[in-house]
Amino acid sequence: MKKFTRPTELPKERAFLVGVELHDELRILSTEDSLIELSLLAQTAGLIVVGQATQRIRHPNPKTLLGSGKIKEIRSLVHETVTNIVLFDDELSPRHQRELEKFFGEDVRVVDRTALILDIFALHASTHEGSLQVELAQYEYRLPRLTRAWTHLARQAGGGGGRAGSVGGVGLRGPGETQLEVDRRDIRRRIAHLRRQLDKVRAHRSRYRERRRRAEIPTIALVGYTNSGKSTLLNRVANSNVLVADKLFATLDPTTRKVDLPKGRQALFTDTVGFIQKLPTTLVAAFRATLEEIGEADLLLHVVDITHPNAVAQAKSVRATLEEIEVTDVPMVTALNKIDLLSNPQSIVYSVDEFERAVPISALTGDGIPTLLTITEQELFNAMSPLIVHLPYKEGRLINLIHEQGMIENIQHGQNAVIIEGRVPDRLLNQFIEYIN
Ligand code: GTP
Repeated sequence: MKKFTRPTELPKERAFLVGVELHDELRILSTEDSLIELSLLAQTAGLIVVGQATQRIRHPNPKTLLGSGKIKEIRSLVHETVTNIVLFDDELSPRHQRELEKFFGEDVRVVDRTALILDIFALHASTHEGSLQVELAQYEYRLPRLTRAWTHLARQAGGGGGRAGSVGGVGLRGPGETQLEVDRRDIRRRIAHLRRQLDKVRAHRSRYRERRRRAEIPTIALVGYTNSGKSTLLNRVANSNVLVADKLFATLDPTTRKVDLPKGRQALFTDTVGFIQKLPTTLVAAFRATLEEIGEADLLLHVVDITHPNAVAQAKSVRATLEEIEVTDVPMVTALNKIDLLSNPQSIVYSVDEFERAVPISALTGDGIPTLLTITEQELFNAMSPLIVHLPYKEGRLINLIHEQGMIENIQHGQNAVIIEGRVPDRLLNQFIEYIN
């Protein structure tokens, strides 16, 4: 157990972290590393971390989760360090949440990783859809946790108000104005309302998506662990100015930019929400529609912070989330990012084989970007369908289309038609069908 010094000045929100390691549990990160990540999340949410404790347990205590001796030890540390939030690294069941709140008393709030991530998302959501999705996830998380004791604590905890509006209490940011005294029925009503609003917003977005698809430009989705450098890479390849921050989950809403590829073609690059291990299931469910867009991309560009000590585990966690949202058959290129920070850039050679089609880059300095774009373009075209077409000269539009979006291996100009052997994206195949040999 680690203890940190007691500061002279007491800031508002002080958090004590608790990690529980269940016997036989398969984890992507070690308990220690997961707590380091939790600490970063806490800082992102504006908390001050004052200490931490971990316990390896065989059977969770039905009331306090941890063993009774350990939890008492934590309680005295919490009082000693004048902590007002006990932050658990794993999602607590509603029962554990209630019992632990009773155990720690009225001055201390019990918060878990899920509530914390929901809170950060609430702070960072900037589009209407993003805000609705986070709010929905927050209510769904809170519904089973709504008790008298909780409401009572929630009243005390009030204030704040993330942009997405939060219900208060379990989350850190208080409830948007009216939500402190909601009961279950009101929450259910609100959930139904949010779902209806989301359906409307999504119908609008799918029309927009349809337009984008008709623009016949291939789409590349940037995926990666939070803070791996996706926004920086998007800025680099598109010469744009997307928000870059050394914060977890700085980007929440998809941003799309048009990028010129080396052989003169163009592609749309989309930066989406960052992934993290133990991404709350309520959040994945609420963001499913946004995440599903990833599955519609022609290619995934997986950005890995190769300088991070847990780079391999983080990449694994990204792949696990992709599987969870059933994105399994989109081709992938990996960008091993931040190589400018490596004291021995040669060491990267050993990592390259561990990832799918990996290219070492620095999104910050631009190192490796031309190679990354060349490989990306190559992979994009490897994913296309081969064809031989006899296109009459009057079909100028189709001839252009294959030049712009396809890849030409051989071209012969006949008297009435041009014969092209090459490849086109599957989604355009239909347009060529009557001229295919
Ligand atoms: P989320 O929004 O959390 O998903 O983050 P992101 O993956 O979009 O990361 P972002 O581009 O915001 O970068 C995170 C931090 O890493 C910022 O401080 C960047 O300046 C830094 N960073 C990104 N790429 C590089 C790089 O190539 N080298 C170095 N040294 N830092 C980088």
